[in-house]
Amino acid sequence: TCAAVAVVAALAVLAAPPGACGLGRDDFPPGFLFGAATSAYQIEGAYLDDNKGLNNWDVFTHTHAGKISDGGNGDIADDHYHRYTEDVDILHNLGVDSYRFSISWARVLPSGRLGGVNSAGIAFYNRLIDALLQKGIQPFVTLNHFDIPHELETRFGGWLGAAIQEEFVYYSDICFRAFGDRVRFWTTFNEPNLFTRFQFVLGVYPPNHCSPPFGNCSSGDSGREPYIASHNILLSHAAAVHNYKANYQAKQGGSIGIVIAMKWYEPLTNTTEDVRAARRAQSFEVDWFLDPIFFGDYPRDMREIISSNLPKFTPQEKKLLQMNKVDFIGINHYTSIYAKDCIYSPCKLDTYEGNALVYTTARRNGKQIGGSTAFDTYFVVPKGIESAVMYVHDRYKNTAIYITENGYSQHSDTNIKELIINDVERVNYLHDYLSYLSSAIRKGADVRGYFVWSIVDNFEWTFGYTVKFGLYHVDFDTQERIPRMSATWYKDFLTGCRQAD
Ligand code: NOJ
Repeated sequence: TCAAVAVVAALAVLAAPPGACGLGRDDFPPGFLFGAATSAYQIEGAYLDDNKGLNNWDVFTHTHAGKISDGGNGDIADDHYHRYTEDVDILHNLGVDSYRFSISWARVLPSGRLGGVNSAGIAFYNRLIDALLQKGIQPFVTLNHFDIPHELETRFGGWLGAAIQEEFVYYSDICFRAFGDRVRFWTTFNEPNLFTRFQFVLGVYPPNHCSPPFGNCSSGDSGREPYIASHNILLSHAAAVHNYKANYQAKQGGSIGIVIAMKWYEPLTNTTEDVRAARRAQSFEVDWFLDPIFFGDYPRDMREIISSNLPKFTPQEKKLLQMNKVDFIGINHYTSIYAKDCIYSPCKLDTYEGNALVYTTARRNGKQIGGSTAFDTYFVVPKGIESAVMYVHDRYKNTAIYITENGYSQHSDTNIKELIINDVERVNYLHDYLSYLSSAIRKGADVRGYFVWSIVDNFEWTFGYTVKFGLYHVDFDTQERIPRMSATWYKDFLTGCRQAD
C-alpha cells in the first residue's frame, strides 16, 4: 500500500496534462467529425442471444483459449448488446459528433446467405442507430471488423474461398437496405491488411494458419494464403461498393470507404537502402490494398517479391476495382517504427514485415523511437500521424481521409483506482497526435474526421482483457463504466474549455 500511495502521489505531481484549451476543435475545419470507435465482437457480448449465429471468433476463443493472453472471449465482453442505451448516453455526454461501430455479420445472417436474415439482429442495429441519431450522433458503420459467420469458415474456408465474395455482397446489401436510409458513412472492411496477416501468416487469429517462415502452428501453406484471402477481400469490397454506388448512394446520400491499418515506417538510417526499405514496408502495408482500388493492381514491389504467390486480377476485375473507387480512406494509426533493409544487408526477418524483406526495430543508436505502451511493438510517436496522412494524401490524391482509430493502450495489472483512472499518458498521447493531425490538415491533407479507439475498455483480441484502450474504464465484474481523466479531457476538447488553464 505504501508503494501504491507513493506512486499515486508521484503521479499527481507528474500529472500535468496539456490543457485542452491549448488545442481544441477550432483547430480543425468546420464540419470535421470527432468521434470514438468500437467493434461488435469486442463489446457486444450476448453471443447467443436472439438467434445470433456463432462466428469465427466465438469458435476460436472457445477452442483455442490458450491463444488468448487471459483465456478470455467475447461471450459477454462489455454487454453492450443489453447496455447500448447507457453507452449512447456516454457518447452524448462526451459531445462526440459520430460513433464508429461494426455490425456483427452472424447476428444479421447467422449462417450466411443460405440461412436467411435474423430479424432480431436487424432490430438491434435499428435500435442502436435510432438512439444515436436521436442524440445527434452520426453512425459510422463498419460492415466487417474481423468476425464472419463460422458457417462460412466451415463451408469454404472463409476468406480463402472465392464463394465468400457473393456472401459479402449479399450481407452488405441487406445492411444498405435495412440501415442505409439513416447511415451516412459506411466502410466495407476494417484492417484487412492486418487481419489477413494475423490469420494466415502469424496464425494468431482464426483460422490459425501460418505461412513460413513465420508463426508457429501446424497448418498453412507455402505463403499463398494471405494473398488469396486479400484478393477475395478486395473483390468482395469492389463488388459491394459497386452495388452501393449503383443502387443506394443516389437515394440515400451516403459515402463508402475502407479502413487500413497503417504504421509509419521511418528509415533506420538515411542510406538509400533503408529509405527504400521503409517505402517498401509501406507498400506491403497500405498500397497492397489501396493501389488495386485506385490503380487496378498490386504495387510493383509486391508483384516482384511475392511473384507467383500473388494472384493476378483479370482485366474485368481491374475495371471493377477502378470504376468503384472509395469516397474516402479510413486510416487506423497508432505507432511508428524504424525500417531496415534486408535485401542488401543481412538481417533477421522475424516479423510479418519480413515479407517485404524489411526488418523493423524500435531503436536507433540505442534510443527508442518513442514512449512505450502496453504493446511491446507500439510506441508513442505523435509526428508519425502527420507523415502517415501526408503519404496517403500524396499517393491517393484528392481522396478524403478519416482517422478511423487512434488511441493509447494501458497495462491493467493494477487494482488501484487512481492509477486506472488518471491516464495522463493517454491524455498526452491524444493531445499530441491531434496536434500533428491538425498540422497535416494545414499542409493540405483533406482529413474529415477522427475517432478515438476506444470509448470503453474491451476485448482486445489475442490480448483478451489485459490491455485497456478505453476513455472509460470498465469493471468487468459489475459492468460499471467509469470515466478516465482522458474522457474528461476529450469532453473539454470537444465542448470547449470551461475554465482557464
Ligand atoms: C485495431 C483494431 O481495429 C481494433 O479492433 C483493435 O482493438 C485496436 N486496433 C487496438 O489494437
